[in-house]
Amino acid sequence: MTRAAITGTGFWVPEQVVTNTDLARMMDTSDEWIIERSGIRERRWLRVNEDGYSEITGAEMGARAARMAMEDADVTAGDIDLVIYATLNPDCFFPGNGVFIEDLLELNTAGAMDIRNQCTGFVYGLAAADGFIQSGAARTVLLIGGEVQSTALDKTTRGRDIAVLFGDGAGATVIQATDSDRGVIASTLHSQGRYAQALWAEIPVGNLVGRWTDAMLEGGRQYPQMNGQMVFKHATRRFCEAIREVLEKGGVSPDEVALVIPHQANQRITDAVGQRMGFAPERVYSNIAKYGNTTAASIPIALAEAVREDRLHEGDLLVTVAFGSGFTWGANLIRW
Ligand code: ACO
Repeated sequence: MTRAAITGTGFWVPEQVVTNTDLARMMDTSDEWIIERSGIRERRWLRVNEDGYSEITGAEMGARAARMAMEDADVTAGDIDLVIYATLNPDCFFPGNGVFIEDLLELNTAGAMDIRNQCTGFVYGLAAADGFIQSGAARTVLLIGGEVQSTALDKTTRGRDIAVLFGDGAGATVIQATDSDRGVIASTLHSQGRYAQALWAEIPVGNLVGRWTDAMLEGGRQYPQMNGQMVFKHATRRFCEAIREVLEKGGVSPDEVALVIPHQANQRITDAVGQRMGFAPERVYSNIAKYGNTTAASIPIALAEAVREDRLHEGDLLVTVAFGSGFTWGANLIRW
């Protein structure tokens, strides 16, 4: 039986560290408030040049992470059949970032597509890569999650509930067809569009002539908006449901799981999920304290770090799980 195995991981984060104390100089917040509510101590934000552009684009960040993953997997540009790029922050409204990766990595017209599933982008992307590999449509897929959040945040007190949470970064994986036992065993995917406006960025508005108005910009409607308490409530419930579902699909009990890599949404959400599921803290990976919430990039960055910290060994069962804007949620069960 053909399986889709992760054979390489990589990540790239900007050099600039922004601490909670740095944020307290921009808005009415404090180190204590941010740590207590989210577990975040610092995040990475791209530097911005005098014209207002970030030092590099999202696709360039993704390409850096991808080069590391390709080297790790020992594959070259000619091996990649398909790029899947997960982001809620594409460099432009269209085309998606996948095509920029094709160009930056000189992938010789390999297929490229974007997944717009926000924090759940990596989970959906891995399920999609698994499907392409199972069907024989691709043998080697490059899956990237990357986000430039810092250019889209309201860094005044008006935007403090969101601005303190998000960071920039990119993570990448190479996924290859294998006849071994390694790879994706099962995935589960869900959405509930009735809650789309509980966490969204409204602008550009597809059905508005001109796509935005001056009044919208003055009202700050170009920035992400979130109902934090509603997100918290749904996230803790859906994370647990998705883990249970994917374990059931794979015929695996929670005790057999070596490591859970959740989307790094908020340490309080991660802790609540770990407690409800009975996973000891050392079996639930967390790096949110140093990177904040990097949405679609958070799982592949965490995975790349977990591998380098020797947290995964051949044959281990790994669960990746996410919840985010949409609402969307899902999980993958993987034999490492
Ligand atoms: N610093 C200081 N005070 C703040 C900040 C801030 N950064 N942000 C909000 N506040 C204030 C509010 O204005 C409010 O003040 P008030 O009482 O005078 O009105 C007070 O803090 C409490 O606000 P709440 O929204 O009730 O705070 P809550 O305890 O719910 O915490 C938070 C807010 C951290 C956003 C919480 O709701 C949460 O963790 N939600 C989950 C959202 C999340 O993690 N999103 C991540 C993205 S989605 C994802 O990845 C799944």
